[in-house]
Amino acid sequence: MEEKKLMPCTVVVCGFFGDTGKGKIISYLALKDKIAVTARAGVGPNAGHTVVYKGVEYKLRMLPSAFVYDKCRLLIGPGVLVNPQILLKEIEITKSKERIWVDPQCAIIEQRHIDADKKGDLADKIRTTGTGTGPCNAERALRTVKLARDIPELKGFLIDVPLEVNKAIDDGKNVLIEGTQGTYLSLFHGTYPYCTSKDVTASAACSDVGVGPTKANDVLIVFKAFTTRVGAGPLPGEVSEEEAEKRGWVEVGTVTGRRRRAAPFNYDLAKRAVMLNGATQAAITKMDILFPECKGAKTYKELPQKARAFIEKVEKEIKIPVTLIGTGPDALEVVDRRKE
Ligand code: IMP
Ligand code: MG
Repeated sequence: MEEKKLMPCTVVVCGFFGDTGKGKIISYLALKDKIAVTARAGVGPNAGHTVVYKGVEYKLRMLPSAFVYDKCRLLIGPGVLVNPQILLKEIEITKSKERIWVDPQCAIIEQRHIDADKKGDLADKIRTTGTGTGPCNAERALRTVKLARDIPELKGFLIDVPLEVNKAIDDGKNVLIEGTQGTYLSLFHGTYPYCTSKDVTASAACSDVGVGPTKANDVLIVFKAFTTRVGAGPLPGEVSEEEAEKRGWVEVGTVTGRRRRAAPFNYDLAKRAVMLNGATQAAITKMDILFPECKGAKTYKELPQKARAFIEKVEKEIKIPVTLIGTGPDALEVVDRRKE
C-alpha cells in the first residue's frame, strides 16, 4: 500500500451509531503521530470514549481522547456542551490541568437539563443517554442557555479555541479534530427521531471547533468489525441477544451501562457514511473480536487470510483505504498500514 501520511488537520468521525472505538484510534494517533493540538467536537458528555494505555482504562465523556500523549494541547470547541462537574473530574483523573482549555462559548449543562432528559419521550421513546444534552441544545437554540464564560469554576480554563486550532494548522502542526457519536445518530443524516440533538458528521465537527471546510484535509472514518447501537431506533440486520452472545458481540454502554444491540458490519451504511463525511481513509476496530487470531497483531501480514479478505472486501465496497486496524483494546494494539 502506498504511504499515506497523516495530514496536518485530520477529522476523526464514526461511520455507524457511535461506540466504534474512536477513543482508541485517537489515542493511537496522538501517540504515534505526536499530535500537537487536539480539539474535541461533538455533542457533549453523552459521549463515552474508552482509552486503555499502560494498563490503565479511562472512560471519558468530556476530555479529548488524545490526552494520552502528554505533550498534546487539549481543547474543547464552542459547539460542545460542557458539564463542568464531569469535565473537572476528568481533568483531575488524567492530571491534565496545565494543558486543557475550553472555549468561552461552550454551552453549560445544568441539572434541569438532565432532569428533562430523564423523563417523557426523551427517556421512554428515544431512550437518550439522560445526560441533558438534548434539552441543553434546545435551550441554546432558544438563546437562554448559560455559556462557559458565565461559570466561575471554568475561569482558569478559557481560551479562544477556533483561534488556537487555526493557528496550529497554519503553523503546520499536527492537529486532530475529535468527532463524537456516529453518522447515523446525526440530527440531519441519522435515523430521526432516534438520533442525537445536532449534526455529528465531519462538517459539523469542523464547525464545532471553528475550522472552515478548506482547512481540514483528511477525514478518518472509524467503523467497528460489527455494528452496535444503544437506545431505540432501527438497526438493520440486528441479531438476537443469544446470537450476539454466541458471537462475542455483547457490549455495555460506557455512559449508560445499557446493553448494546448488535448486527453484522453493514456495507451500505458504511458506503453512505463515507459519502456524508467526505472520508479519505478508514479505521476498522475490534478485528480481534471477529477473528480472535488477530489479537495484538501489529502488521498486516500477521492477520489470518480471512481477516485480510474482510478488510479487502470493505475497501472494495467503500472505495477508500482501510489504513488502521484495531486488534485489541490497548491504544497501541493497531495495524498501521500507512507505514506498510
Ligand atoms: P442523546 O444524545 O443522549 O440525546 O441520545 C440520543 C440517542 O443517541 C440515543 O439512542 C443514545 O443512546 C444515542 N447516543 C448519544 N450519544 C452516543 C454515543 O456517544 N454513543 C452511542 N450512542 C449515543
Ligand atoms: Mg462510546
